[in-house]
Order: sequence, then structure tokens, then C-alpha cells
Amino acid sequence: MSSDPRATLAIIGGSGFYDFFGDDAITVESQTPFGAPSAPITIGEVAGRAVAFLPRHGRKHEYSPHTVPYRANMWALRSLGVRRILGPCAVGSLRADWGPGTVAVPDQLVDRTSGRDQTFFDAGGVHVAFADPYCEQLRTAAISAAVPELPLKDFGTMVVVQGPRFSTRAESRWFAGQGWELVNMTGHPEAVLARELEMCYSAIALVTDLDAGLESGEGVSAANVFAEFERNLVPFKALVRGAVAAVDGDDTCDRCRVHSGTGVTLPFELP
Ligand code: ADE
Repeated sequence: MSSDPRATLAIIGGSGFYDFFGDDAITVESQTPFGAPSAPITIGEVAGRAVAFLPRHGRKHEYSPHTVPYRANMWALRSLGVRRILGPCAVGSLRADWGPGTVAVPDQLVDRTSGRDQTFFDAGGVHVAFADPYCEQLRTAAISAAVPELPLKDFGTMVVVQGPRFSTRAESRWFAGQGWELVNMTGHPEAVLARELEMCYSAIALVTDLDAGLESGEGVSAANVFAEFERNLVPFKALVRGAVAAVDGDDTCDRCRVHSGTGVTLPFELP
């Protein structure tokens, strides 16, 4: 591994996914106009390319979904040269036939969060296209990396709730009734902030539970979510490695260059 702290591809690990490299990774301490990211970023090598890794909740899960410094995270990665991000995360399932251990590569999201900083453009006048919130090229790479242990679904609408509590049964049944498949607490504003910085982004969701509307017992518990994630972590990391290897090219794809030709400039200068 060279000692150059740059990478064009990044992984943001979710609950239970706190490291990705061995001891030869480089650690970068970053500061941004939005404060420090959730943790120092590590840069290691996967499939012959430099890859940056950032644990979304901090190395020891210090940040709850609503306190994650999303803007600092995305700014810090972009400052290191990142143009493409894979976001593995734990999700609840709103469909009985997508049980724990299923991987879904969502193609849509619904934002049910509130009060999170969700733009870099507070001054107004910038409204990025977000009809398709995920990068198709990265989704294709993730889908192609399916592993035999984890059945994979190549679509899904992920509803992002504010948390940190889980949903009530009524909320969960309502979400399912809308035809949405997945529920999670961190998918927003990560994807839109990536889009604003013209970085390709795809979530890769590992189902850890059937959400409260389907669950007949006490409902979802954090302990179960973590235990189920841990149970599938080895094949899930293998899938993420495969997705990295399948990503073609180092630059933002044409569809995710949303400011191209618009004259939009970022509110702060990137290093
Ligand atoms: N993350 C994992 N399982 C979840 C659930 N049921 N609801 C919200 N976020 C989750």
C-alpha cells in the first residue's frame, strides 16, 4: 500500500461494520467546514485499488443515526479524492419473503427523517435532481457481486426513519402498505449529500429483521439487529469486496454529475 492518502472509491460501513482493512491501512484524520467525520478514515487496498473506509457510526458506535455528522463525512471523503461510494447498512424488512440474511440493493428511498442537515447549499438556488437517488453503475456492480450465502434482491424502496427508536407496528404496516420493502435510519441524507458533491452512491442493505408490522413477538430489538448483522458479516464483507472489484472506472458517472454545465460552485473550497 502506498502512503498516498487518496482514494477514488469509498465504503461507509453501517451498524456492526466498523473496519475493513488489515494493519497496513493508512489512517487519515480529517477536519471539514462541518466538523470532524464520524471517525478517522482508513485507506487500504482492495482488488488492486486504493479504497477509503469510514464507519458511519464511529469506531465504537458513538453516533446515533440522527447525530451522525453526515455532511462532514461526505466532505471528508470528497476531499480525499473520492468519487464513488458504496454504503453497506443494516435494514429491517417490510416483506415476509425478504427475511434476515437477504441483501437488497435499493433503487428508491423515502425520507421520513426530520431536522437533519441535508444540503451543502444553504444559500439557496441549488436543487439537485434526485428522482433516482442511487447510481445505476454502482448498483449494477453491487448486484453482480452476490454471494451464495446471501440471497440478493436487485431493487427495493428504503424508507428512512428518524430513529433512534424503531417503528411502531402501525407505522410499519403503513410503510409495507405503500409497497415499500425496507426500513432503515441512515440512508438519508447520505445519498443526497453524495449527489450534491457529484459522488456516485449506492446503498447495499443487509436485512437483519422483519420490522414490527410483520414481527409477531415483542418487535425489533437492537440486540437482535446487531446479532443478525454479525452472523452474516463475513459473507456480507465478501460481497462488498466483490462490489469494489466490479466497479469500473475512477470518476463520477455522467448521470451523477448533476452540476455539469449549470455553473454551480460548492459553498466551500475543497482541499
Ligand atoms: N435497521 C435495522 N433494522 C431496522 C428496522 N427494523 N428499522 C429501522 N432501522 C433498522
